[in-house]
Amino acid sequence: MERLQKIIAQAGIASRRGAEKLISQGRVRVNDHVVTQMGHKVNPEKDRIFFDGSPINLENKIYLLLNKPAGYVTTLSDPQGRPIVTDLLPEIDVRLFPVGRLDLETEGALLMTNDGALGNYVLHPRYEINKTYEATVKGLPPAASIQRLSRGIMIEGHKTYPAQLRFLEKSKAHSKIEIIIHEGKKRQVRKMFQAIGHPVVHLKRTAYGNLQLGRLSSGKYRTLTKNDLKNLFLEKIPFTIKNIPA
Ligand code: URA
Repeated sequence: MERLQKIIAQAGIASRRGAEKLISQGRVRVNDHVVTQMGHKVNPEKDRIFFDGSPINLENKIYLLLNKPAGYVTTLSDPQGRPIVTDLLPEIDVRLFPVGRLDLETEGALLMTNDGALGNYVLHPRYEINKTYEATVKGLPPAASIQRLSRGIMIEGHKTYPAQLRFLEKSKAHSKIEIIIHEGKKRQVRKMFQAIGHPVVHLKRTAYGNLQLGRLSSGKYRTLTKNDLKNLFLEKIPFTIKNIPA
């Protein structure tokens, strides 16, 4: 037997605390009875559990957008014992993995899910999901160098795809540049600016596809809605979104 709020959280409908709220609001039914009392135990094999009238499926998928702080690794374990991004999701009971990676020192938008199919689609180069970064670089790159980057530049024998760049701040010491790319090669943005002689000193991903980080604070996450996911795919990906709240 399992606590009802745990089952709801595992189904990806809400965090455990959020699930308690939904239960107290009378939105959860077990078989024929609405349960509002906390700590109610259910048998996930036998009991039928409904949320807002729809049966919940324990195979529900979880999708969230995390604002990764610098100093966290995006692997699922680290032999050097450094903090890992899943440390930031203590109330998520299921095992999530990051879609793609961010360097240890890079901050910002990281999509996390337990949906392997989605991960594969989103990472496939064919779908060209844009990633938007704010790069603070050393010095003030001349317009010609920015143009080279936007057209594509040779790095380790490969030409990068065209990118969109614009200055956000200019100064002799450091400049802040927005760069949008859809490739995901290792340390790509750092290598691109290194190649024009203006190394990155700070890097933040501000959007993953159409999913904007917005005002999400560092170390916090938000669960994604169906609409978020539709926006992410821009209707490009033949992927059915299942079992997540609207
Ligand atoms: N490009 C980089 O250089 N680092 C990242 O973490 C992501 C993109």
